Amino acid sequence: MGLVTGKEILEAANGGGYAVGAFNINNLEILQGVVRGGTEMNAPLIIAASEGAIEYAGFDYIVAMVRTAAGLTSIPMALHLDHGRDPKVITRCIQGGFTSVMIDASHLPLEDNIKETKQVVKLAHAEGVSVEAELGRLRGIEDMISVDEREATLTKPEDAERFVAETGVDSLAPAIGTSHGAFKFKGEAKLDLERLKEIKKRVGIPLVLHGASTVPQEILKLVTQYGGEMQDAKGVPPDQLKKAIALGINKINTDTDLRLALTAAVRRVLTDDRKVFDPRKILGPARDMIAEVVKEKATLFGSAHKAQEVRS
Ligand code: G3H
Ligand code: 13P
Ligand code: ZN
Repeated sequence: MGLVTGKEILEAANGGGYAVGAFNINNLEILQGVVRGGTEMNAPLIIAASEGAIEYAGFDYIVAMVRTAAGLTSIPMALHLDHGRDPKVITRCIQGGFTSVMIDASHLPLEDNIKETKQVVKLAHAEGVSVEAELGRLRGIEDMISVDEREATLTKPEDAERFVAETGVDSLAPAIGTSHGAFKFKGEAKLDLERLKEIKKRVGIPLVLHGASTVPQEILKLVTQYGGEMQDAKGVPPDQLKKAIALGINKINTDTDLRLALTAAVRRVLTDDRKVFDPRKILGPARDMIAEVVKEKATLFGSAHKAQEVRS
């Protein structure tokens, strides 16, 4: 159906009380696995490319691959820049075919974050591109040694209210206790759901959860069974994600779980068949496993069978 904006996808999700998966892609097989999973579940998708992914695969390849994928499927898809920091990259995405960009100025003081985000919103909205911004720093709750540190890191609801009012962003990623990668929690895995509830009450717009991979046990088991070393990996428990969606999360960022699926599948093929050297036999099973992960996420996030709700 062609690419749609992030705003179109997320406003439908906000209205319907569900979340859409934003999946990071770095190459053709990951993209194909994600799109196959979304298509089989009739679920809208946000295809995320980080600055690192753009550097790895090449800007033109990313745009061409994702446009082609969108043209071949009936589900609505957005192409989104994940964690945009470099103004040159952000501008190129806005002008070069992305339908959504994230400006991540969360490392800056509030005033500067507002200033940088406002500039991106102005440029992006003039081109019909949606904008996500981040407020607060992503760190696991258990990593915080004091209440003061926790307050300094997690998003303050009053800051979120001011930030959204002054910047005009389309969606906001607050920090509520998640972190990126496969090692998210040392102790109990939990999110600050009270904070999330208060933020949603004050801002109303679609909210985004970064660092939301669940690190599925069965995939982790495969990775370790076939020689990987990831013993203490721990993700966000699926029931915490469900609660977060019920409280207003509408976009769930998932990269680590796709990386784990690819790693598990590739390790298994190479171990089970020591003579294999055909890349299609090595990467094909990884693509299949990624599609399965995306299908499970669509059910968990509530986005399955919601494709028709976007733009209707
Ligand atoms: O949040 C970061 C995403 O997982 C992308 O990671 O910058 O290594 O591509 P990357
Ligand atoms: P995970 O590392 O939990 O998959 O988070 C990905 C992410 O937030 C991308 O922006
Ligand atoms: Zn992120």
